Amino acid sequence: MKKAVIIGASSGIGRGISLELLSKNYKIAISARRKDRLDEIKKINSENVLVYEFDSSTEKNNELLDSMIKDLGRVDLIIYCSGIGIINKELDYLKDKKVNNLNVAGFTQVVTYAFNYFIKNGGGHIVNISSVASEIGNGLATSYNASKAYQANYFQGLRFKAYKLKLPIYLTDVRPGFVDTDILMGNKDKLFWVAPLEKACRQIISGIERKSKVLYITKRWKIISLLIKIFPEKILRLFFR
Ligand SMILES: NC(=O)c1ccc[n+]([C@@H]2O[C@H](COP(=O)([O-])OP(=O)(O)OC[C@H]3O[C@@H](n4cnc5c(N)ncnc54)[C@H](OP(=O)(O)O)[C@@H]3O)[C@@H](O)[C@H]2O)c1
Repeated sequence: MKKAVIIGASSGIGRGISLELLSKNYKIAISARRKDRLDEIKKINSENVLVYEFDSSTEKNNELLDSMIKDLGRVDLIIYCSGIGIINKELDYLKDKKVNNLNVAGFTQVVTYAFNYFIKNGGGHIVNISSVASEIGNGLATSYNASKAYQANYFQGLRFKAYKLKLPIYLTDVRPGFVDTDILMGNKDKLFWVAPLEKACRQIISGIERKSKVLYITKRWKIISLLIKIFPEKILRLFFR
């Protein structure tokens, strides 16, 4: 039986991925702050779900991962889905710090742990949910887009490192456009190409199975990615805030 760790599984994409993995006969260890939401997933398949209430913006993700892997046994797949975005028009440093504590510091702790774990254990697969936002700045939520750029760049660095080490460590950087989850804060109707959650999670799982390096969710967001690369900033600033 394959085993996976999912950090940030209480709602949205992390929850959706957890359900997909259970349907594929995985045993999973899941974490987030809202334990009641994690317990709902455990009720669906109590034998194959281990629950950990945890705030990943603390500096103790190593302890969390130690416990998860001790309880679960050898893990094949580690997925980081925890993430927040805060609108910060006034450029309040403390709001940026909150985003960075989870999207940069928490992310870095989990993926460095995962990479070193897979070096010791002969390989494995690490997945992060970054965003198409990793490819362009955002005047309303500067730290969100910057943190996603950090994640995407960090993953590319780890892919280079795995190649040099000649180890079967796979890294999939998932870049959604918009997916219908709580992070959209009720703005779904003002946005475009918003993917239904189930469709997005099915595409993510199939990309993980193919060991994709960079995965746009849904695929049409690759068009936006190409336009971002082609257009000069004086055009981009008319469309992005
Ligand atoms: N939905 C989209 O359109 C979209 C687009 C691009 C990228 N993404 C990325 O996808 C990832 C998942 O987001 P989502 O759309 O599924 O939104 P979501 O439903 O809000 O899920 C966010 C997850 O992060 C967890 N989280 C938040 N703060 C945490 C903390 N301090 N410690 C541990 N976990 C924490 C939440 O759990 P608790 O609150 O229970 O702790 C929840 O499980 C994020 O990184 C987001 O940036 C989403």
